[in-house]
Amino acid sequence: MKHVIGVVRSLWHEPRPPDPPRRVWRDWALVGVLVPVAVLEGVRGADLPSVLLTLGLIPTLLWRRTRPLLMLVIAFGATSLATRSERSAWMSRMDRQQISHLAHRDHPIAAPVSGAHVTRLLRRARLPEGARILDLGCGEAAWTLRALALYEDATADGVDISAEALRAAEEHADRQGLWERIRLHEKPAADFPVAETYDLVLCVGATHAFGGLRATAEHVRRYLKPNGLALIGEGFWEREPTPDALTRLGASPSDFFDLPGTVALAESCGFDTVYAYTSDLSEWDDYEWSWTGTLLRWANEHPGPDADTVRVAAREHRDMWLHGYRGVLGFVTLLLQRQGSSQ
Ligand SMILES: C[S@@+](CC[C@H](N)C(=O)[O-])C[C@H]1O[C@@H](n2cnc3c(N)ncnc32)[C@H](O)[C@@H]1O
Repeated sequence: MKHVIGVVRSLWHEPRPPDPPRRVWRDWALVGVLVPVAVLEGVRGADLPSVLLTLGLIPTLLWRRTRPLLMLVIAFGATSLATRSERSAWMSRMDRQQISHLAHRDHPIAAPVSGAHVTRLLRRARLPEGARILDLGCGEAAWTLRALALYEDATADGVDISAEALRAAEEHADRQGLWERIRLHEKPAADFPVAETYDLVLCVGATHAFGGLRATAEHVRRYLKPNGLALIGEGFWEREPTPDALTRLGASPSDFFDLPGTVALAESCGFDTVYAYTSDLSEWDDYEWSWTGTLLRWANEHPGPDADTVRVAAREHRDMWLHGYRGVLGFVTLLLQRQGSSQ
């Protein structure tokens, strides 16, 4: 123990030579160059690693008894410079919800379905007067607000875990004059109580909230009136995914079925498929180019640590799409009717 303490002390307390050497011009030149560089880096980066680097370098250069500090500064500086994008991500205030919110600015429907087809599916539902609508994983409530515009006496509940998305939903509802007809609930969809039954229950692009299509269909059914309708939007394998596509997606083959398998699974939960819409490649392209392009544009127009995080997220997502699931993953929105006689 004594030995360890001795080593630590010797690191900190440099043995003082009887006649300490005076600073030579090279020391001062180093101080003169490195201190302004460190200050500039701190100001330019305006983030914690740069500021720490600056604060650490100054005493290191001005006082000599700072060998351990010097080591820390070098280690920290080297790591933070070598992992610049991770450093930015660490410093950035953007979380996944905020990035997702931003990514949907130009395509508020958070699924590869065009506005025209959203309208077509909702019209096909032919809801009764005074219909009640429930949207599980509603996001910014694009589907439900469109339904409320189409069915003028309908009212709705929207459920999502994203405070950011619900705030946007509230703003959209206000702007469209629909705020009195929608209630928004910030909670996991699986925790939304079955306190009443609905004419239409939506769960589009959010089946992961229940752990997959089967659990979603079973859950949704509990909220429906007899002969009530569900709109469930789900991915399916358009083609057999390659191992590379699976790796990039972070998916396994059993995460999705093919189209017939998807329909059969939903129907096995007590539904009939009364209509469906299968998204085409141009809808996927529109959705994905909007997602990634909106983020990249935002990053260019808002330089700083958040921009780095956003740019990384956009590029990673685009790689996953272009090299992974483009043309491989399909998307189908099933209009399902709860079989009247089954419980
Ligand atoms: C791909 S978005 C779809 C949003 C919306 N249905 C649409 O099509 O525009 C998925 C949504 O599910 C929400 N979500 C994820 N897990 C959830 C959970 N456990 N409970 C409720 N919402 C959830 C996300 O916050 C996100 O808004």
